[in-house]
Amino acid sequence: MKIISSIDELRDQLRGQLRTAFVPTMGNLHEGHLSLMRLARRHGDPVVASIFVNRLQFGPNEDFDKYPRTFQADVEKLEKEGVYVLFAPTEKDMYPEPQEYRVRPPDGLGNTLEGEFRPGFFDGVCTVVTKLFSCVQPRVAVFGKKDYQQLMIIRNMARQFALPTEIIGAETFRADDGLALSSRNGYLSSEERLEAPALFQQLNRVASDMRAGKRDVAGLERQAVEALAARGWQPDYVSIRKRADLQAPGSADLEAGTPLVVLAAAKLGNTRLIDNLEI
Ligand code: PAJ
Repeated sequence: MKIISSIDELRDQLRGQLRTAFVPTMGNLHEGHLSLMRLARRHGDPVVASIFVNRLQFGPNEDFDKYPRTFQADVEKLEKEGVYVLFAPTEKDMYPEPQEYRVRPPDGLGNTLEGEFRPGFFDGVCTVVTKLFSCVQPRVAVFGKKDYQQLMIIRNMARQFALPTEIIGAETFRADDGLALSSRNGYLSSEERLEAPALFQQLNRVASDMRAGKRDVAGLERQAVEALAARGWQPDYVSIRKRADLQAPGSADLEAGTPLVVLAAAKLGNTRLIDNLEI
């Protein structure tokens, strides 16, 4: 595996590659990330991964400085997955001058759910992903459903800009007890780690109530929020949305069986976890 930090060297290395499959990450790799590498390999060759903790997508009070950085361990994992190039730019490589041009998703998608609680987050994500795509020029790129709204926003962005990159969604990789793997799980105390699967359990409860024909969307959302709060969580949202555009379903959507997804974010102690489940 070649480890490359400069954009020019990356371009030289990938020149003429027409079937590149790309997996962007912020490192601290776990099995969820590695499952994306395997999916990428089924869709293209070579597989290119990136590790870059993107300051633009962190708010002033978020965990940019303490975001876990485990570069050597990450490299060993990617070697085993047969990744051809790891693009690991420094901040200077990626942002040699202040990044003043931004890519901003439409308000309806970018300011709801995660965007409501993390202002500017999706501007940072779209900007860095656009720039990474420009550097790697992949034919396909893989994103996890774990970050459902991110996947949706990137997919719409690629469509609206007619980017030559096909966006592929990968299923969420979970621990045996249901907790979605996440770099932020490392912040949990052992006690919190035992409690953490309750988030996915609440999503399952909402999904099974909806599948059983319950239609009181607001009531189901409230019930899940209250159940989490009663267990000591600080929930930001539990929200049932249409899969296609992440807007709230109307009664016509519920009648018609429009595909839905339930998304949640909640803090357990100091750790903010997100998860979702297609209904
Ligand atoms: P990061 O959080 O490192 O995630 C990288 C990719 O791994 C994302 O597509 C994410 O959805 C996926 N992923 C994380 N946990 C997963 C799991 N348990 N199962 C399946 N996929 C999982 O997301 C980012 O980085 C950044 O926002 C990035 C897109 C790299 C832009 O900076």
